Amino acid sequence: MKILRNAAAALLALVVSHGAVPSTAAAAGSEIKFPPQIWSFSGPFGTYDRAAAQRGFQVYAEVCAACHAMKHSSFRNLAGIGLSEKEIEALAAAVMIPTIGDDGQPTERPGIPADRFRSPFPNERAARAANNGAYPPDLSVMIKARPGGADQMYALLVGYTDPPAGVTVGEGMYYNKYFAGHQIAMASPLSDGRVTYADGTRASVEQMSRDVTTFLAYIAEPEMEQRKRMGVKVVLFLIFLTGLTYATKRKVWADVH
Ligand code: HEC
Repeated sequence: MKILRNAAAALLALVVSHGAVPSTAAAAGSEIKFPPQIWSFSGPFGTYDRAAAQRGFQVYAEVCAACHAMKHSSFRNLAGIGLSEKEIEALAAAVMIPTIGDDGQPTERPGIPADRFRSPFPNERAARAANNGAYPPDLSVMIKARPGGADQMYALLVGYTDPPAGVTVGEGMYYNKYFAGHQIAMASPLSDGRVTYADGTRASVEQMSRDVTTFLAYIAEPEMEQRKRMGVKVVLFLIFLTGLTYATKRKVWADVH
């Protein structure tokens, strides 16, 4: 039985990719530790908290979308956080999407669910010009692009403080405990009550940060739940197969001993 237990443990270790170890990122000379948070979507059985992700979409749409594009994601991705087809159609239709008209000239048309989210700026140069020379990166896969993942995103959003005594912050820069080098060109995008949640949740900075992080985690990996379900099935099957093989081995060798 020991073999069986060991095999099962090894297999489980394979699918459990998230530990409670604080994630870190190398900063200029020092390591920044992002306090580990509890997320509904971590662990082998994790799922996205639909209500949090929907609130997070509201935060993205009302706050972050003013500067950040999300050009790898489309309106229909919102079905995965529980929005109905009707709601998605309405959201898309409210946005004008640049296109080429019948006369070959650039024009705009109302969006459809298959459209990507509209970027706030036509190109990087325009984005920099509007942001003091800094570029607001695309948020579609930001959570996967940073070593600290969701913990890093959350830490960044709640990490704005006054600079410690003796530290001077550059022109157009803001002090943030969790940004490499501690100076970031993004002003704190959130303040208490920045959005009004339809479900009555109090919109504290922590709450909005948690919600928008949940939403961006979903957007970065919409197929995660399916992948994890499949992983669990595979592990269960392999455990079953291990048991079967072991039983067969005992049966085959029973007469030999
Ligand atoms: C007024 C414009 C503006 C708004 C609104 C804004 N950002 Fe930013 N953001 C920026 C800029 C500019 C940068 C680049 C900062 C830098 O490189 O110093 C940035 C950088 C970031 C980064 C990258 C940090 C890194 O590790 O490189 C993340 C993540 C981010 N923003 C998330 C958000 C989220 C989430 C929201 C909404 C809650 C938001 N931002 C709202 C302008 C904005």
